[in-house]
Amino acid sequence: MIKDSAVSRPVFVNKLLLFLAASAAALLAIYLFWSFEASIRTLLEHRMGANPSPSAVTIINTVKLLLLGILGYLFVRALNSLFFGLAFRLKRIDAPTLIRNIFTIVAFTILFLIAFTFLFPEVNLGALLTTSAIFGVILGLALQDTLGNFFAGISLQADRPFQVGDVITVGAQRHTGVVEEISWRAIKIRTFTNHVVVIANSNAAREPIEVCPRGNLNARLVFFNTLYSDSPAKAIHVAREAVREAENVSPRVTPIVRIRNLGDNGVDYEVKYWLEDYAKYNDTDALIRQRLWYAFRRAGLNFAYPTRTLYVERHSTAAQRDGDGGAIVERLSAVDIFAPLSVEETGKLAQAAVKHVFAPGEMVIRAGDPGSSMFVVHHGRVQVQVNENGRPRTVATLNEGDFFGEMALFTGEPRTANVVAVEETEVLEIGHGAMKRIFETNPDLVESLSFIIAERRQGLASPSGAATPESHSSAGLLSAIKRFFGLSQ
Ligand code: CMP
Repeated sequence: MIKDSAVSRPVFVNKLLLFLAASAAALLAIYLFWSFEASIRTLLEHRMGANPSPSAVTIINTVKLLLLGILGYLFVRALNSLFFGLAFRLKRIDAPTLIRNIFTIVAFTILFLIAFTFLFPEVNLGALLTTSAIFGVILGLALQDTLGNFFAGISLQADRPFQVGDVITVGAQRHTGVVEEISWRAIKIRTFTNHVVVIANSNAAREPIEVCPRGNLNARLVFFNTLYSDSPAKAIHVAREAVREAENVSPRVTPIVRIRNLGDNGVDYEVKYWLEDYAKYNDTDALIRQRLWYAFRRAGLNFAYPTRTLYVERHSTAAQRDGDGGAIVERLSAVDIFAPLSVEETGKLAQAAVKHVFAPGEMVIRAGDPGSSMFVVHHGRVQVQVNENGRPRTVATLNEGDFFGEMALFTGEPRTANVVAVEETEVLEIGHGAMKRIFETNPDLVESLSFIIAERRQGLASPSGAATPESHSSAGLLSAIKRFFGLSQ
């Protein structure tokens, strides 16, 4: 706002100064011409001799008409700015350029005709206009295109099939962009490669135009495929969940994922989704493809490609599958709560861990969900967020080597917070069974964990929150965890 008015003010002041200077010059010229009219006429008559054609009076009146025309034009421009400026200020009505131009033309023509009849009373204007057929034909031919555009522009304004800000696609060449201006001559659109395309109104009126209005929920289709071995029900579920959380996908309508075709290389699907801001559809399509990739990776789904490779897949843990068992053992042994574990125990934990990758902005854990596993950040960064008055509040940022998700795992309660990937993040998931085995041989671990959980719970409480209940204290937690895991008290 501030930047806007700072930029527009000098422009406005410049225009005003120019207008005042032009008006002053026109008034001065009129004043001088009227004052010296008698002398000029005498001079002209003297120079041109008796019975000149045109007469000195005609020449003088023509100059007067010209000067009055200039003054009239300036007056109409001022009237235009005043009238439409007031309409915008008072009623927020932003009149289209075409309407402003028509107003200027009509008002100026009326003023001009008044001045003409006043200066040339002997000329019958009606007869002049109706009888000069040749003049009309020449003018008509010369203005054929201009008038075509003009009337097409009027019909566009009257119909209002689209407005400034809408995304449109015009004609066989399929020019797509955001409408920037609709003038008496043409429609100006800005394409998504930041080019400006100007389409004459008369051409636009002849072509089909696809309109995606700004306030409308416009839909898009994005295509993908999977191997025939992947279950369609799973693929549809995973894709729908991945798409509905992407930015700019409208939460008002659930995306639709359906099979388009049983193709040569795999099952072909389409995702139909609705956008909040249609002008950003390129980015949103791309984000959806990215989310699909990550979601497929985690769900073990595969995109189809034209190969005839035979895959033999064995279910394996993160360490076995990616061959980075060493790095995973190293990561887990650096986690403070696992420090008391022996090398052998850490190795077993690494065997049981499953690695997942998340895209930036994706949710790893959703508050309120049930949870039966905890996570260690292997690579990347996550944020722990709680909802406060409908807005997310970040309570902690966890880096490589930090863990989360232990609260629900150890207490059996629902997840207490959302955990969102800040960048592309790899996490190691450790399930209930693996933790139970660890607790059985390391009972002290339960205690240190109960301290951490109690501390994190404090962090979750809103600043104005009530005092921690007894069951949330570390002692209460300790016995709750032991009960949950069936350990001796
Ligand atoms: P859980 O409740 O299973 O799921 C959300 C997780 O966010 C939770 O476990 C903790 O691991 C983590 N978490 C909650 N509060 C905090 C906090 N104050 N600091 C760090 N991590 C937290």
